[in-house]
Amino acid sequence: MEKKGALLFIFGATGDLATRKILPALQQWDGEDLPFARIWCIGRRSLDTRGYCRLVEKKGGYHLSEPLRTRIGYHRLEFDDPWAYADLRDRCDTEPAVDGRRLFFLAVKPEAFVTIATRLHQAGLFVSGDSNHRLLFEKPFGESRTSAEEIQARLMTLADEEQVYRIDHYLGKEMIRNVLAIRFANRIFSESWNGRAIETVEISSIETAGAEERFEYYDRAGAINDMVQSHLLQMLALVAMAAPDNFEAEPVRRRKIDILHHVGLAPDRPPVLGQYRGYGPEGFASTTETYVEAALRVDTGQWPDTVFVLRTGKKMGEKRTEIRLRYRPNSMCLNCSEVVTAEANELVIEVYPREGVLFRFNSKVPGYGYALEPVLARYCHSCRVEGDMPEAYVKLLKDALAGDKTLFAGFAELLVQWRIADRIRGAARIRGAARGQSPVIYEPGAMTVSGEGGAG
Ligand SMILES: NC(=O)c1ccc[n+]([C@@H]2O[C@H](COP(=O)([O-])OP(=O)(O)OC[C@H]3O[C@@H](n4cnc5c(N)ncnc54)[C@H](OP(=O)(O)O)[C@@H]3O)[C@@H](O)[C@H]2O)c1
Repeated sequence: MEKKGALLFIFGATGDLATRKILPALQQWDGEDLPFARIWCIGRRSLDTRGYCRLVEKKGGYHLSEPLRTRIGYHRLEFDDPWAYADLRDRCDTEPAVDGRRLFFLAVKPEAFVTIATRLHQAGLFVSGDSNHRLLFEKPFGESRTSAEEIQARLMTLADEEQVYRIDHYLGKEMIRNVLAIRFANRIFSESWNGRAIETVEISSIETAGAEERFEYYDRAGAINDMVQSHLLQMLALVAMAAPDNFEAEPVRRRKIDILHHVGLAPDRPPVLGQYRGYGPEGFASTTETYVEAALRVDTGQWPDTVFVLRTGKKMGEKRTEIRLRYRPNSMCLNCSEVVTAEANELVIEVYPREGVLFRFNSKVPGYGYALEPVLARYCHSCRVEGDMPEAYVKLLKDALAGDKTLFAGFAELLVQWRIADRIRGAARIRGAARGQSPVIYEPGAMTVSGEGGAG
């Protein structure tokens, strides 16, 4: 008897996210028995399924595997066209091998979330209260705290919260999932995971690419909405939160919300917004930020005087994502008259391009003397895996299918993230207005951008 499977619907299937991340993830999953009987790839372009597969291969620069290709069906649809949803429903009704589970992956801009959910609901493709039907929303969920609240209020008239999965794909990345293990499974780190020992926590995600084909979306969003509000604040929450009672979805989420409520801007260090030189089409004037650096404080007993720096930028000198903990410097009293100063320890959780952990500590220089020098210990996480590391989207789709929400953002969490993002934006604008320039223009290839206009 033919094995039955779920239905996956990808809205925005001709877009960057679908072609560069979601379909390659499905291709990686393929070998492990893809659970989808049909993958409906939905776009507004006039294509048939073969033409769609050709477009994906051309855009993505890879070949779709045969088992994946045979499950793909392309469906043409304008987000607001009710007839196209009715056609889609009719096409689904003829599928013989489905088991009732439906994942709707909205890889589209947030303004389209409610329209698509409404049309799916009206067409009977998505049924509210049916736990087999789930809506997956790509980040950003909204464009500000207010718009996130509006989207949520309207969604809740169509779906139960249990049916809603808000994706932040960084949470599915191996080394981000490793943060809690590194923190809580190692006494060497858990005992010193506080502000008395740690001076700064730098969370960076920079890249060499510019806005390019995503310009239209990017110019509306900017780096704060694209990266800080979601990925970087989630990383901060994982680093700063207190130990949960256990590592299931709810206790972890509660701890993240608790800590995010205590995040504020560091005094005397206003956020820096930058824009790379040459951003956008020639002659186009925009104040959208492509670089952000925000210094934050976490106002709890665990983090006195620690500065958390979030940094992200496009067209930078390299593509790198990491969490870098810099400890307070130490010194060693050799005898009553001689004190040897030791360099600060550093713990780096490497997320991209290397996946691993780097620890810098001090050691005696070999020989008869007692001079100190910093040395590095390195753990390569990805070296342990044969073939490709599991794609974040595979993990997230598997969890969504299994109903496990641990790696998905809850709405309360998201609202606090929006509050912080809105504050960063507000403070940066005040600073920019005072200086008569917002954002600061930086040269492509810079490694950091200073608030005074220079690139490092
Ligand atoms: N790209 C990434 O790496 C990434 C990562 C994380 C999150 N995201 C988020 O995911 C969302 C999509 O990003 P993206 O980069 O994939 O954007 P994109 O490349 O602009 O793709 C948008 C998709 O939506 C379709 N679309 C737009 N308006 C439509 C309409 N009225 N009716 C039907 N289809 C319509 C587009 O069709 P056409 O192809 O015909 O224009 C395209 O398939 C954004 O909110 C973004 O922030 C993206």
